[in-house]
This record gives sequence, structure tokens and C-alpha cells, in this order.
Amino acid sequence: MAASRDVAAQLLFYVNGRKRNQFACPGLMLAQAYQRGCHIFSQLGLLFFLPEKVVEKNVDPETMLLPYLRKNLRFTGTKDGCGGGGCGACTVMLSRYNPITKKIRHYPANACLIPICSLYGAAVTTVEGVGSTSTRIHPVQERIAKCHGTQCGFCTPGMVMSIYALLRNHPEPSLAQCIDALSGNLCRCNGYRPIIDACKTFCKNTGCCQCQENAVCCLDQEINGLPGPEEGRKAHPKLFSEEEFLPLDASQELIFPPELMIIAEKEPQRTRVYGGERMTWISPVTLKELLEAKVKNPQAPIVMGNTSVGPEVKFKGIVHPVIISPDRIEELSVVKHTHNGLTLGAGLSLAEVKDILADVIQKLPEEKTRIYRALLKHLGTLAGSQIRNMASLGGHIVSRHLDSDLNPLLAVGNCTLNLLSKGGERQIPLTEQFLQKCPKADLRPEEILVSVNIPYSRKWEFVSAFRQAQRQQNALAIVNSGMRVFLGERDGLVRELSISYGGVGPTTVCATHSCQQLLGRPWNEEMLDAACRLILREVCIPGSAPGGKVEYRRTLIISFLFKFYLEVSQILKRMDPVLYPSIADTDKSAVEECHSPLPWSMLQYQSVDPRQLPQDPVGHPIMHLSGIKHATGEAIYCDDMPAVDQELFLTFVTSSRAHAKIMCMDLSAALSMPGVVDIVTAEDLHGVNSFCFWTEAEKLLARDEVLCVGQLVCAVIAESKVHAQQAAKRVKIVYQDLEPLILTIEEAIQHNSFFESERKLECGNVDEAFKMVDQILEGEVHMGGQEHFYMETQSMLVVPKGEDQEVDVYVSTQFPKYVQAIVASTLKVPAHKVMCHVRRVGGAFGGKVMKTGILAAITAFAANKLGRAVRCVLERGEDMLITGGRHPYLGKYRVGFMTDGRIVALDVEHYSNGGASLDKSVFVIEAGILKLDNAYKFPNLRCRGRVCKTNLPSNTALRGFGFPQTGFITEACITEVAAKCGLSPEKVRMINMYKGLDQTPYNQQIDARNLSQCWRECMALSSYSARKAAVEKFNAKNSWKKRGLAVVPLKYPVGVGPVAACQAAALVHIYQDGSVLVTHGGVEMGQGVHTKMIQVVSRELRMPMSNVHLRGTSTETVPNTSVSGGSLAADINGLAVQNACQTLWKRLEPIISKNPRGTWKDWARAAFGESISLSATGYFRGYELNMDWEKGTGHPFEYFVYGAACSEVEIDCLTGDHKNIRTDIVMDAGCSINPALDIGQIEGAFIQGMGLYTLEELNYSPQGVLRTRGPNRYKIPAVGDIPTALHISLLPSPENSNTLYSSKGLGESGLFLGCSVFFAIHDALRAARQERGQFGPLKLHSPLTPEKIRMACEDRFTNMIPKDEPGSYIPWNVPV
Ligand SMILES: Cc1cc2nc3c(=O)[nH]c(=O)nc-3n(C[C@H](O)[C@H](O)[C@H](O)COP(=O)(O)OP(=O)(O)OC[C@H]3O[C@@H](n4cnc5c(N)ncnc54)[C@H](O)[C@@H]3O)c2cc1C
Ligand code: FES
Ligand code: FES
Repeated sequence: MAASRDVAAQLLFYVNGRKRNQFACPGLMLAQAYQRGCHIFSQLGLLFFLPEKVVEKNVDPETMLLPYLRKNLRFTGTKDGCGGGGCGACTVMLSRYNPITKKIRHYPANACLIPICSLYGAAVTTVEGVGSTSTRIHPVQERIAKCHGTQCGFCTPGMVMSIYALLRNHPEPSLAQCIDALSGNLCRCNGYRPIIDACKTFCKNTGCCQCQENAVCCLDQEINGLPGPEEGRKAHPKLFSEEEFLPLDASQELIFPPELMIIAEKEPQRTRVYGGERMTWISPVTLKELLEAKVKNPQAPIVMGNTSVGPEVKFKGIVHPVIISPDRIEELSVVKHTHNGLTLGAGLSLAEVKDILADVIQKLPEEKTRIYRALLKHLGTLAGSQIRNMASLGGHIVSRHLDSDLNPLLAVGNCTLNLLSKGGERQIPLTEQFLQKCPKADLRPEEILVSVNIPYSRKWEFVSAFRQAQRQQNALAIVNSGMRVFLGERDGLVRELSISYGGVGPTTVCATHSCQQLLGRPWNEEMLDAACRLILREVCIPGSAPGGKVEYRRTLIISFLFKFYLEVSQILKRMDPVLYPSIADTDKSAVEECHSPLPWSMLQYQSVDPRQLPQDPVGHPIMHLSGIKHATGEAIYCDDMPAVDQELFLTFVTSSRAHAKIMCMDLSAALSMPGVVDIVTAEDLHGVNSFCFWTEAEKLLARDEVLCVGQLVCAVIAESKVHAQQAAKRVKIVYQDLEPLILTIEEAIQHNSFFESERKLECGNVDEAFKMVDQILEGEVHMGGQEHFYMETQSMLVVPKGEDQEVDVYVSTQFPKYVQAIVASTLKVPAHKVMCHVRRVGGAFGGKVMKTGILAAITAFAANKLGRAVRCVLERGEDMLITGGRHPYLGKYRVGFMTDGRIVALDVEHYSNGGASLDKSVFVIEAGILKLDNAYKFPNLRCRGRVCKTNLPSNTALRGFGFPQTGFITEACITEVAAKCGLSPEKVRMINMYKGLDQTPYNQQIDARNLSQCWRECMALSSYSARKAAVEKFNAKNSWKKRGLAVVPLKYPVGVGPVAACQAAALVHIYQDGSVLVTHGGVEMGQGVHTKMIQVVSRELRMPMSNVHLRGTSTETVPNTSVSGGSLAADINGLAVQNACQTLWKRLEPIISKNPRGTWKDWARAAFGESISLSATGYFRGYELNMDWEKGTGHPFEYFVYGAACSEVEIDCLTGDHKNIRTDIVMDAGCSINPALDIGQIEGAFIQGMGLYTLEELNYSPQGVLRTRGPNRYKIPAVGDIPTALHISLLPSPENSNTLYSSKGLGESGLFLGCSVFFAIHDALRAARQERGQFGPLKLHSPLTPEKIRMACEDRFTNMIPKDEPGSYIPWNVPV
């Protein structure tokens, strides 16, 4: 049925306390409407019929709240990080008044999934409504900023809103509630610890873990019952001062608009209808109207939370001509206890269901509530708090997602669905047939689900819930399960058994036949064994099943069953100790959850020298300059800039084939779409379609051939983003596949497909050394890639100035000079016509250099061609598909060593997967080679490296630049040597470590004393020896949970050669009022470089920081900037700023000494009066770095950052789950300019590294399509993944060096320390395997995901599962 364009109602809701009326027509249409085609009649007999009213522009049912807030209302504080509910950047608070209960419900929600039509009568609070610098900063905003909880700040408004919504409901929350509230918010920068610190300031019980386990607090007794840091090493006071925080005052909050209460109470309830271009939205307000609407629109979905329909519309392109969205229908919110169970309304949100169940289990006897407890367990981890507050129980059940967490439980729980239609009521059981959508067992099109009845459990009935996901929180389950058994009271025989699984088929799968066959059997090991075999036969996952991880999923199916068996056995023993045997002590750990008390942290850093001037901020933990603005949403990112007059939007069309010839491209359908202005192809870029900045030219748009999926083919430019995106889908490209298709490193080696020649470094005499050693080992280790996952996707706005061919490029980049150069080349204009401006970047990590330049060049070309401003902002999925990331690596090593653990010879080959174009891959491979020795002296070393050319998107720089891969390969090799020698890896690490003054393989002098000190301090701080013994004790007692401990040292070389590559410049102006404006070449991307620069100015000019301002980076003020990366931005730009300030100081000193008590205003005026220039440039020519690859010698680095990290983990051998129990990091940060920022860099990098080595997994199809294209599929660490205890200590070892105030750049080094978690898991796995009699080598590749952990714990279950012959099926993904 065609949607009507001509009727709509007024949409009334509040944003930040201000009324918003979106008019459908001049007359208010609060009455019911009659809609041509929809045939909805009003109760009052009113008939509205408004032909050709263009009301859709204001109330388009397809519009989500996020773009509406950002573009229509210009509330840009709410950010767009993914558009699919997965990142929390768009969190707002919704408040609704219920006229029946008279209560207001405040809850967090994802604006990207809220249709504005669903907001009638709601109050929306965005970060701007919470507080602002122009009115009053809210305590949440103040504390998150002052606790250093912001770096790039892009996630911060979302974090603020989640905490704010929590505080509206719980002014003194527990820490567990805070963590739960943040479970749907991702941050890629700061590692969550400072955000948790901010939350703690609102909790009643601050400063400790708040762990009530055994009524023992963390402050009294450490984990494992061991002491914390050694006596005498007291933690430094916090990085912030709680005393200065504003109190939380509920009376200051925005009140719920009284008008909305009055409307809810008094306004006649009538269906509202909103018409759009392609969709009509009907909001019935009574059950009767809902049923009528459903009869008339049987195919229309009932949209409740829109968390299922919304993502389908957005990502699968499904169009619904009509949507029915019930509003405040009482019957859908029913909560009723019946004689046999609990009836819950289908319209209740999952969060409400969670609260109701929590309440019910308090009130009812335990035996009646077993299914409620199981549901509650899953509701605790299902999605994040925002989604749980939006999603409805009915929507969840009816969507029948294959990975639904609740349906498997409801299916085993004998639940009944209460349905209603105009024809009457009906009950259907929630069975496998319903879940499979069998027509006989399903809802009829005109029916709706009103409520669901969940029966009470009985005395001998047991229900359990299991799930394993890639990440513990906010991640869809890989496999989940609901299991229920009812046993005969007297005989203990199985009377009823129901088992169902999610994640193993296209929908929830029930093991009905197996359960049937097990009836009448006693609950014992034989029954378990039979059950495993039967179920594996019934629930079969084919080798090529979507989602991959097939053997793992098969193993989980029976591992969960084993857990269930033990859980029930344990309860049976408690219920009848005579009839039932106890389970073995060592098995008890199978039923316990992974160790997960609440996080706590301790930080140690140096105090400033007491002789330092009081106003000198250097060395103090100064808050990020933009911290408050991040928290209030006032910090402006590229896409927050208001639209320029006649601005257009550009969307890319990318290749869908990995290696193919473009046979033809038909643009006609796309060009004829409404709003389309132009399409730019390679033809248009004739002569400028490539650009060479370093060694090899990079192509802008594909012409005849495509070399990877995601390669840019053409760009559609339209009046709006929606128009551009719709048209892009209409571009038809015919391809012919080409051979060979090379995706993996192994395939590249086989086809001899490489970029450039081999890079090689050699020292000592490797071949001779191999002859002298006791033993030789050969091995291979593979390391997967990593997505940058900066929260702000690639964004740019190009504005042609209309005069002298000038263009302004506003862009989120780390390298303005490069963008300027590529744009100038593409437009064929000199660089001085292109001004590139970067105010701030919402995270970059190396990913906003090369591809950003290409995207900006094409955008600039379009803007120049059309003479109009053009904006381009990539969606998260596009960004992940197009931009590449960290290089996957294959390391092959041959290592010769003595039986005492001394490594005498090492011969390594590195292969990186470079993708389809060169990008920076050769620099990465070179850096990787130079850094592979990490902290070890290998007297005889040979390393060769090659970049593989494959049909994947080009990989590029990512924090650490090759070192996280090559350092890891070295550590893997050392771990294997240790195993072979029968020594602990720590011992072998210590034996081979650099000590004192020494030389690297390329003959650079190093002083490794601080390395040894970091190692010693880390051992002491972590109480390594005592904890190692405790781990062993734990492992001896527990078969199914194992703990592991690992310490990893770090030597991170800093510097980017040659000299010119790290030159820097700055410009400092003093105005006549004494205020100072500083500009420099560094880009602010979260690392706090601007804050440090102001600290430098403040010290050098002896003026307060408040006197200094910094606007951003621009090629107009500071030309020829170096890339902000390589940990160097503050180092080199700081020296340039210092230089400029010293010039000014020298000029002004005579004036100041004449009037020492004067103010800066006095001095500036006096200088002006004497015609002394108040402006100076500063310059730093770069570090004297060099490297001669021919000779294999040089001085490629300026200095080394040393460190060490000790991590302890606990793994679940049955599921592969792991928890990081504790990490201690000691870092030699030199003299920190700002310990808060430096600690932030260390822990942020550490958590990113932890993600790299244990969590983040990119999946490619055998055709080269990236499958993991958003936060729902690609998992970065979330708040629940951080170590339970985190200690960071900056080494108190100020040393004098050439660097700025003897500081060190810490942007990248900490990332590598994340591999301590990998090796701790390795240690735990070794213990698990040894217990099972497996003493052979343990080869593990990175990332060490739950799948790999589980499959490494070989046991009777892994032996039981069917294995597919390689080659007998097409795998879902290929490891590249
Ligand atoms: C970011 C994200 C993370 C998620 N994580 C998880 C997770 O970890 N575990 C998990 O299990 N799920 C997860 N989900 C899925 C989520 O649970 C479902 O999307 C949600 O429960 C659907 O509820 P809804 O009210 O939003 O449905 P809607 O999108 O509003 O509707 C979904 C479907 O249900 C139908 N429907 C709704 N109500 C009725 C009714 N009363 N009668 C008849 N039909 C009805 C509609 O017609 C529609 O077809 C996640 C979703 C997102 C977006
Ligand atoms: S943008 Fe809404 S959750 Fe990511
Ligand atoms: S500060 Fe959280 S994403 Fe950057």
C-alpha cells in the first residue's frame, strides 16, 4: 500500500526543556487523521485531508533523533559514532510521564535509533541541556573532565549522558550501577579508568572496589589475599582534587515540562499519523486503535524500541511503507502474577523487565523463580543500558534474532504468548516452531503480542542460562543457551528436559529430540555423556556456517551442557545430600563465574620539584584544555560545523569485488535520483588521479581495475546525505573477476606478491652462532590486524572561496600539510591556495593520514568543480571498509639458545599484509625490524621483512607502527624458548634483557639502566613472586578455571627519521591586553598536545595558563608541519613553542625588568610603544637521526621509553572467557610535563593493546569482503574489560636529555604492554593443558580470543565434537 504524503500530525516533544513543535499542517492535528490509503478513521469523526502539504520536511518518519538534533536543531553535542546503537556516542536522556502511575521515567537512549515520531510527549535531554560553560556546568561534566576522563572527547557527551541519566534515578549509585550504566558506551582513548574515577565521586562508598565479597574490602585485603604494593611505596594523591567539585544538587536539574504532564493527563487520546516521502507513521494510543491499524496494515511492523527494525532499515535498506508504533497503551505494560506465573506486557522495556524480575526474586521463594533468575542473568549482559531501556520484551521475542539471549530461555520455560487481534484473543506456546516462524505456530499478520506468561518453576525443576560472547558486555552471544530439567522427586529421573541454543542456526534451535530420548534417565555422568552425543548430532553447525568459529560453537554447545549438569548436581546435593553425590572439588570452578569484582586503581607519579615556581604548571596533572568543552558538547569537531550556504554532501561508491576488471559503469539511474548534483569518476580526475608523497603514487579513484573490496570507484554528490546515499546505491558497475585473488600472507608468499624489495638487518654472525648453541627451535606466529576505531569517522568539509581559486579544507587529520599537498595537486593549484584547518580530531591513532588525504582530495575536486561547499563524513561501516588498519603479520623464527635460557642467535622473517597499495607499509616494516629486539640483547641477529601485496584495503599506520607486531613475535619466541628450557618466561626474559650501557643491533648506544629498574619495580609493585605462588595454588585447586601471570618488559624507541621529518614550528602572538595566542604544527587528537603547549608557554613566559589561548592547527599559520604521530607531537612542537617564547622573552626582558611588578598588559603596551614585535615564530629543526640500511647501522631514534607490565588473568576453560584480574605497569616517562595526560596515554594505549592481543578480530570472507564493519561485529574493549586492579607507576628517575624539559613521548609505547595479558592467558592455558597431560608446545596466535582460548583447552568435549576435513567446505572467513 502506498504511503500517503498528505496527512500528518503535530509532533510535540521537549528538548532540553524547550518546546519543539514540528508542524504537519497549519492546523493542529492532534486529532486522529484520515489517511488516504491507510484508512484510519477518527473516533470524533474528524477527517483531515490535506493534499500536497509538504509536511514531510518537518516530520519525516524516517528521520532519527540524532540527525534531527545535529542538523535541524544544531545540538551537535550528541555525536554520531556508529549510527547503529553500538557505541553510545549519541546517548540522550528521554523522560516520559505516565499518567496512570503518575511517575516520570528517565532513561538513557541511543538517539541514532530513535525515530522522531516516537517522541510525542517525551522530553529529550541532550548534553547541552545538562550544562554548559555559558550557564552552569553540571557536576557530571565537571568531574568527568577534571578526573581526566576525556582525551579526544568524542565519546564524552555520551558518557556524560549515561551517568547523568543514572544519577537522575539514583543520586548515590553503587559502582556496579555506574559500570552497568556505561556498558553501552565505548571509548577508544582513555581506557575507562578515569571515567570510573569520576563515577566513584558520586558513589556513597568511594576510593575502593566496593566489593562486598566476604565482607572484605579491597583496601583491607588484596586480591588473592596478598598485600598490595610494598610497604613504604604509598600511592600518590589523586590526579584531581575532589574538594573542588560542585555538589550534585537534584533541585538544579531540568524539571519535566509541566505542559507534557498536562497533555498526558488531559488531552484526549487519539491516534497520530505522520506522513513522509516513503513512509507513514501511525501511533495508536488505545488497544482498539492498534488492532484496527494492524488489520488495515497487516504487513506493517509494530515498532516499539526500534532496535531491531531500525538497524534493518539502516543497514539492510529495508523500506517499510507503514509503521505502527503504539504509544502508552496500558495493556502492553501489564505486570501480573497469575496462579502459575508472571505475565509481562510486551511493551515493557527490557530494563523494566530486569527491574521487575529483580524485585520478584526478592519476594518469591527461590525454587519458584529459577527461570526469572536465569533471565535476569542474561538481562545483565544483553546489549548496553541504552538498548535495554529502548528495546521491548515483545520486540525482542517477535524479532526472533538468531542470537537472542532471552528466547532460548523463554522457549525452555514453557512460556505462553498472549495474542490479540480484532478477531479476539489467542494463546500460543513459545516453542521451536514459533521461533522458526512456522505459519501454524506464528502470529497472524493482523495479530499483536500483548503479553507473555512466564511460569514459576517447581521444586525439582532447574533452569540455567549460558552465553559466551567475544566481549563480556554489550556483545551479541557467539552461542547462548537456556536449559531446563524437571526431575522426579523420589527417583531423581529426568521427567522433563528442554535445551535450546542461540547462535547455532538461523534462529533459536531447540534440541527437542535429544531431550525426548533422555527422559527417564538418572541425572548422572552417563546421562551427560549420552546427552552430549545426542545433542551434537541434532544441533549441527555446518563447516561453512555464517559467523565461522564452527568448532568452537560446537564445543560450547556441550560445554554449556556440562556446566548445567554440574550446576544442577550441586543444587541436588544441597537439596538431598543422601541421594545425590557431591561434585568433585576441582569441578566446582566450572560453575563459578569468572572473577569479576569492581575495578579499582592506583597511580604513582613524581611530584614536581619543590623549588619550582608555584605558578609554573609543568609537571602538574593539568586537565585537558578542552576537557570541560568535551563534557558539555561545546567542543566542535569537523562535522559539528554549521552547514555552509548551498552545501552539498559527497558519498563514495566502493568496489564490491576484490580483484576485477570494471567492464562498465552505469550512472544514469543514480544521476536521475532526486537531489543528485553530480558523480565524480576517474575520468573526471584525468591527469590528477594519483598522488605521490613518499615512495609510490597512490591512486584516488579506480579506473579500469579494482584491487580490493572497498576501493573508491566514484563519488556521488547530492543536496543531502540521504540523497547521496540513496543515489550511490543506484550506481551500477559490472565487473569481471580477475585472477589471482590474493588475500592472505601465505597466498602472497606463494604468488611472490610483494611491495618493494626485502628490508634486512643483521648483526653478529648468525650462521656461526647457530653452530654453537645447545638447542634450535623453529616456529611461526601469526598476528591479526586491528581497526583504528577512532570514534570520529573520517570527516571533511571543503569550501571553495570563490576568489583566486582558494579553498578552505576543514578536516579531521593528523597531517594537515599532506592534505594541503594532495588537494593542491588534485586541483592543480599552488599549495598557498589551499588552507587546511584542524581544530581537533576525535581520535586518529595513525588512521587519519593517507586515506584522509585521498578522501579530501576527491571532496575538494567535487567542491571546486561545482563551485559549492562539499561535506564528506564516512559512516562507520564505510570507514572500516575503506580505510584499512594495522598490518596483520606472520613471523617465522629460528632461534638458537643455551639450556640456561640464553638466546645466542635469532633469525626472523617478518611478512606484513600490506593490502592493495603501498601506503606507509614499507616504513612500518622498517620500524618493525628496528624495534623487534624490544628489551633484549640478541648478540647474533638477522631479520628480514617484506610487505605482501594483497587484494585487501591498504593497511596503514596504527599506534606503535610495526612494533606491536614484531615485539610480539619476539615475545612469542622467548616464551617458546622458556618452555623448551623448562624455565619461566620471566626468567628467560631477564636473562636476555639489555643491562646498563649497551648497543642495539644497528649500533645505537643505549643506557638500559632504567629498563632494569622498571623491571625490578614492576616485579616488586606486583608482588610477583607471592602472586605466582598464589596462582599455582589456585590452579591446583581448580580444573575449569585457571589463572596465569606474565611480566613483559618494554624498550620503545622514539624518533622518526630523517632530521627533516621531525622538524616543527610555532607562532606565538602577544596582544596588547597581554593575552597570548599560540599556534603550532601539532594536531590535537586527544593526546593533550595543546594542553602541554600552553603549559610550555606558561612556563617560558611566566604567565598563568589562563592567559594563553590556542585555537587549532592550520597550514595558514604554521606551514610545512610534520605529521602528528610517532609519540612526537608534544616533543617537537614543544621545542618550537619554547623557542618562540624564548625569543619573545628575550625581547621583552628589558621592559619587564624596568617594571617587574607590572602586568602582562603593561609590558605588552610598553613593548608596542617601543616598536618591539610582539609576535615570534619558533622552530625546531628535528632530531639528528639517521639510518643506513645498506650498512645496517645508524642512530634512528632519539631516545627510548622503558617500561614493564605484569598482568594476571583468569580463564574459563569451558567457554574461553577471560578476565584481567590485575595489571601493574611501571613506565619510565622521563620528567613528565603532565602526569595526568601521560598516565592517560599509557593506560589508553595499554587497553587498546589488550584489545589488539585478546579481543579485536577482523573477519574477511573468502571473497575479500570485510565482514566486521561496526561496533556490533568488531569488539573493542569496553568498560567491563579493564583490569579489575590497575596500578600505574611512573618511574621516579628524572634524567637530563635533549628532549623538552627531559620529558618523553608516551603516545604509543604502552600499547605493546597489552601483550602481557596475552602471555598471562598463555600461562593459564599452559597450566590447563599440563593438568590434562598435554606437555607439547603451545602455539597461539594473536588475538587470543575466547575461541582460541577454549580450543587450546583440549578436553573430552573438544575431542567429542565433529571436525570437518579442510577443503570439504567453504569457510565463512579466512585469516589474512
Ligand atoms: C546495539 C544492539 C545490541 C544488541 N545486543 C543484544 C544482545 O546482546 N542480546 C540480545 O539478545 N539482543 C541484542 N540486541 C537485540 C535486541 O534485543 C532487539 O533488537 C530488541 O529486543 C528488539 O526490541 P524492540 O522493541 O526494539 O523491537 P522493534 O525493533 O521495535 O520491533 C522488532 C519486531 O518486533 C515486532 N513487534 C514488536 N512488538 C510487537 C508486538 N507487541 N506484537 C507483535 N509484534 C511486535 C515488530 O513488528 C518488529 O518486527 C541488540 C540490539 C542492538 C541494536
Ligand atoms: S551513534 Fe548511536 S550508538 Fe553509536
Ligand atoms: S576520549 Fe573517548 S573516544 Fe576519545
